Amino acid sequence: MDMLATRTTWLAIALFFITIVSTKISRWKSNIHHLPTRPLPPVVNVLALLPSVFKKGFGVTINDLYTRYGSVFTINLLGPKITLLVGPDVSAHFFQGLESEISFGNFAEVTVPIFGQEVLYGVDVATRSEQVNFLLDILKPSKLRSLVDPIFQEVEAYFANWGHDGIVDLKHELEQVLMFISSRCLLGYEVRQMMLKEVYSLFHELENGLNFFSYLFPYIPTPTNRRRDKAHNRLKEIFTTTIRSRRSSSRAEEDALQRLMDSKYKDGRSITDGEISGMVMALIFAGKHPSSITSIWTGAFMLSNTKFLIAAMEEQKHILSKYKNQIGYDALLEMDTLNRCIKEAIRMHTPAQMLARKAHKKFKVQTKEGKEYDIPGGHTVVIPTAFNNKLAHVYTDPHVYDPDRFGPGREEDKVGGEYSFTTFGGGRHVCPGMALAYLQIKVIWSHLLRNFELKLISPFPNADLRKMGQEPKGKVMISYKRHQLLHC
Ligand code: HEM
Repeated sequence: MDMLATRTTWLAIALFFITIVSTKISRWKSNIHHLPTRPLPPVVNVLALLPSVFKKGFGVTINDLYTRYGSVFTINLLGPKITLLVGPDVSAHFFQGLESEISFGNFAEVTVPIFGQEVLYGVDVATRSEQVNFLLDILKPSKLRSLVDPIFQEVEAYFANWGHDGIVDLKHELEQVLMFISSRCLLGYEVRQMMLKEVYSLFHELENGLNFFSYLFPYIPTPTNRRRDKAHNRLKEIFTTTIRSRRSSSRAEEDALQRLMDSKYKDGRSITDGEISGMVMALIFAGKHPSSITSIWTGAFMLSNTKFLIAAMEEQKHILSKYKNQIGYDALLEMDTLNRCIKEAIRMHTPAQMLARKAHKKFKVQTKEGKEYDIPGGHTVVIPTAFNNKLAHVYTDPHVYDPDRFGPGREEDKVGGEYSFTTFGGGRHVCPGMALAYLQIKVIWSHLLRNFELKLISPFPNADLRKMGQEPKGKVMISYKRHQLLHC
């Protein structure tokens, strides 16, 4: 009897488990056949768009599509599909998705001949992520304190060459000073002292290698691509010589080159000279151009908006008084008004006008109106950053230069959520150089405001739409006269 009871109990337990498992399996099966599917975004054919793009321009065409279809729509390029995600509500997966779900795909291939096969998009994902971590470490805000003195020295030395008064092209001047700063902080003093002119023109050739044609055909031996390859090889030679000379003299410096030289992979392997060269090229490349464009726009906007120019100068006076004329890292961190003037300039003219990824797997987006769409794997996904920066439901009077929009009580870069302001990207690939970019632009503009009376004498510049990065078109002429905003 006892045995029967035990057998019955075991049978009941077994039946119970079989029922649970079979129910789970049948639910799983039915889920497979009835996965919740959502509609795909509205599709527009590229041929239908071309007249509008030619007549009204790309920005106006995107605006028309946004007004008609809302924040998610697909452009069919006669086969390949590009889905645009407009605004912060639909941006999360783009920035946060795993590399296996959404990645740069082959868009970054254009950078391989520029930086070399040994780094970033020339290597596998695991090595790349370690290399990006080396960059993140170098550019950490806590590591930037030691760069402030060298940046100040470069800025003071550069503007000491200006006379008592004069007229200059702000664009040329700021490009030059930023090249000196980048070289000093990132390339090392050897390059800064001895071969800056050559390195500067080699980087120019690398920059020319990034164009729409090379996106499509990065390896075709066009004259531009050949010059790019020659410039890459010469830069690698220069950096390798510098690295070897430092190693043989056991000299250590306080710059990015040194920090890269001291980096080690998780398995204990030291970084090679070729990898260091490639990553230094990537740093200069990623940082110099957007920083100089931003510093020029900051100047053009401040010099055309008396209210904000006066506010920025008053802030300098206050900080000089507080720090007894000694401007250092902590003083720079307190320059909130200047910070907002810079941030608003990058919002108005963002250097990275759109960000792109390849979706490898289907993902869902939900618009602020509550509409849900499935974005299929295989689509190219684009965030139109420049357009997002002018969205009327995120920014009040979006076409007006108004640094106060980022101030206390308004903070328009936050009200739309985490991805309202994506000028520096966001999530997994957020720009690691953001703090350095603000730091160097603040050093330049705080120096100029303290030491010169400045006026914009050419018309306010338009953005050069033929060039990537919305740089100001033509010369930006200013007049200067020395003054001293010293606190007594
Ligand atoms: C105003 C100045 C700058 C702007 C507007 C800017 C913008 C951006 C943006 C939008 C991205 C993300 C691209 C994407 O997600 O597709 C990015 C990435 C990056 N930026 Fe910047 N950047 C600036 C300055 C700098 C500086 C000064 C450095 C370094 C010296 C730097 C280094 C990098 C690097 C290494 C990445 C790649 C990160 C990754 O792929 O994980 N940037 N930047």
